[in-house]
Amino acid sequence: MKIIGTGRSHPSLVVTNEMLSQILDTSDEWITTRTGIKERRVISSENLEDLAIDAAKKALADANMEAKDLDYIICANVVNEFISPAMSCLIQGAIGANCPCFDLNGACVGFIYALEIAEAFYKSGKYKNILVVCAEEPSRMVDWHDRTASVLFGDGAAAAVLTEGDNIKATKMSASCSWDRLYQKHELQYSPYNTKPNSNLPLVMHGQDVFMFATRAAIRDISAVLKQSGHTPDEVDHFLIHQANLRIINNIKQYVKQPDEKFPLNIDRYGNTSSASVPILLDEVNKEGRLKRGDLIVMSAFGAGFVSGACILEW
Ligand code: ACO
Repeated sequence: MKIIGTGRSHPSLVVTNEMLSQILDTSDEWITTRTGIKERRVISSENLEDLAIDAAKKALADANMEAKDLDYIICANVVNEFISPAMSCLIQGAIGANCPCFDLNGACVGFIYALEIAEAFYKSGKYKNILVVCAEEPSRMVDWHDRTASVLFGDGAAAAVLTEGDNIKATKMSASCSWDRLYQKHELQYSPYNTKPNSNLPLVMHGQDVFMFATRAAIRDISAVLKQSGHTPDEVDHFLIHQANLRIINNIKQYVKQPDEKFPLNIDRYGNTSSASVPILLDEVNKEGRLKRGDLIVMSAFGAGFVSGACILEW
């Protein structure tokens, strides 16, 4: 497949490190030096589905495609207003599409998982035009009294329209279960027969374990897609890395020995927006006119599971 349109949507509220310092025992200095984050967008009066719908409409407009011409919608999403129906169904109705759709929970790797699935759908010969939307609201998952997790995340949505093409050159997905390093449980109604204690816990994260996993997994995945596609790091024009922590991105940069210009960043403005992170970055560089036809792009992300994935594609 190839990507022919991108879009993104952010909540209006900007939460700066200074604002967090007023409610938590933290500082702009700590957050900036440990993570690279200066501010993030947090949902206040908006609904996540409205951001998802807005991002989807912008991507369709960018692709010059009507919603009725879509053959499938895949939405990467971890939490949303509804447990059922899926977010993709809300998007499908709001944009006026009449194709099938489903949600996937690939944590922060959702976009890359969705690209690989879209490619496989296309290769099946059954579907041609596929909309991928990533919509995430981690601000509803963290405990806002917990300075170790709440400062890292932001909310947002982004989308991409794919159609027939031969531009996805290689993908590498992986999962290795270490669920107790980064997780959140949620509370549903228990039946009268259920004997387990009811728990509604905020996100739990063992930051240093996640950090080590993320660095190793990204380097392994990027090496794998370069090898599979027969390219060297020198030939890659843009490395779009999940914006979770600037230090992780710098480790990857050092490994591939490529200059800063090839690593666009927006972590300072948005923090970690989970699966929306890579497509938000993609839309930014696209709209800034930084992508030229034929450019080689490597995308890499990692997240709760642990899961990770990378792909290499031609613009
Ligand atoms: N402000 C001030 N101090 C803090 C804060 C804060 N916000 N958070 C933690 N600290 C303190 C700790 O309490 C600790 O204090 P102590 O030494 O007195 O015990 C000290 O800072 C150092 O804490 P560490 O956890 O060792 O700090 P570290 O350098 O590892 O940075 C961080 C923590 C930023 C979470 C880092 O481990 C990290 O980025 N990990 C990866 C997290 C990540 O990328 N998650 C997302 C990927 S998966 C996904 O996207 C869902």
